[in-house]
Amino acid sequence: MAAARDLRAMEMAGDDDAVELAKRHLVQPWPYAGSVGNEARALIGEGDGIYITDVTGKRLIDGPAGMWCINVGHRREELARVMYDQAMMLSYNTPWYTMNAPSAELAKRIADHAPGDLSHTFFTTGGSSAVETALRFMQFYNNVRGRPEKKLILSRGGAYHGSTYLSASLNGRPRDRDWMDGADHLVVKLSSPDPFRRPKGMSIADFCDFLVDQFRDTVARVGPEKIGAFVGEPVQASGGVVVPPDGYLKRIREICRDNDILYVSDEVVTGFGRLGHVFASGDVFGIDPDMITFAKGVTSGYFPLGGVIISERLLQEMRRSNHPDAMFGHGLTYTSHPIGCAVALKNLDILEDSVLAHTREVAPYFQAQLKTLEDLPLVGEVRGMGLMGCVECVADRESKDPLQLDKDVGKRIDAHCHELGLLVRPLINMCVMSPPLIITREQIDDMVAILREGISRTMDDLRKEGVWQG
Ligand SMILES: Cc1ncc(COP(=O)(O)O)c(C=O)c1O
Repeated sequence: MAAARDLRAMEMAGDDDAVELAKRHLVQPWPYAGSVGNEARALIGEGDGIYITDVTGKRLIDGPAGMWCINVGHRREELARVMYDQAMMLSYNTPWYTMNAPSAELAKRIADHAPGDLSHTFFTTGGSSAVETALRFMQFYNNVRGRPEKKLILSRGGAYHGSTYLSASLNGRPRDRDWMDGADHLVVKLSSPDPFRRPKGMSIADFCDFLVDQFRDTVARVGPEKIGAFVGEPVQASGGVVVPPDGYLKRIREICRDNDILYVSDEVVTGFGRLGHVFASGDVFGIDPDMITFAKGVTSGYFPLGGVIISERLLQEMRRSNHPDAMFGHGLTYTSHPIGCAVALKNLDILEDSVLAHTREVAPYFQAQLKTLEDLPLVGEVRGMGLMGCVECVADRESKDPLQLDKDVGKRIDAHCHELGLLVRPLINMCVMSPPLIITREQIDDMVAILREGISRTMDDLRKEGVWQG
């Protein structure tokens, strides 16, 4: 195994070469104009369990599990094996007029885990294409049902739903849209359900009422006959692990039902184990959406796959419509990819066998240990759920002002943690942690100890520079 890796490493470009080649030829995601196409990022050579190793040989805890996706951990022999076997059996078939067994079996197993009457899955290539598919399906559904004006989409501040045109139009995080166009005429924005940023002096219960009233008032003002869907993450992930107030999602679900607005639960991050269940909508939050989108953890990041699970009711309504010949003109070359679906089946076996139960067991410890960081004066709040957490830094705990420290705090902490052996996901003034679900208590201790040291060193730097005196 090690010998095979050495051989492969020798065949590949040398490390310095790779950095040079990347700077000359690679456009990386989310670049700044000033460095686009000319940027070196940390070069990662290997992954194993919860660890990745950069090419200097430094081993790091993979704090964000890739991009919230390496749920069962790196270097799983059985996942590699299943990809090889499936590629040797059938590497691809056109989904336009043929089908394959792994996708049918996976759709059935997903339906078994899904809440309510969600029964059918349309497979995509990732999360953005899953959200895009759900929205195009909503448009098609309303066209077929003779309501072409019912197309607006409700979305919230702090949301992240993807990087395709329509999914990105829903995004509500600071800076995501500053320089980017979007289909703004199709989207109605609502407040982020972030309890930490609720108006000063308001209780969390009152904040929940405020959010629900705002949702209801917006539906009334815009007109339910014009609104096709609400799209929401159960826990806003890239917005900073925003856990909504208790009962909020159920109340929003009811308003959607009352107004015939499709509820799309975006479980691209929360699905496939992050909160200890295959889907969080039903098992954690007690809601039964009309559609659930998923990606990432469905293959633990070993193959690009996503999908949208659709309610039986919607499909039946379409079949009963007066337009049996209307075509859902939507499909991707890699819809129902046999290798992706085969690896997802094996990944689901692993989750069901042990990893879901382990996640539920270890999550309270993870949350409690992260919470201890609140004694550091730079930390305004530590929050989270399951195996996702966020450390939000503030310049001043009273005003919760993140602005003076805006650009660099997350990145500064990440740089120190990298030195110390932990990869952090920096988000402006926040550090998001979502390790592989197989993490042990001892590894959680290591992770939190490094994070504490990284934040402490950052506080020292900020004090020395006179930027912050906390
Ligand atoms: C909640 C959510 N939806 C959608 C997406 C987009 O997924 P992808 O990057 O696979 O297209 C993401 C990505 O992080 C996400 O967090």
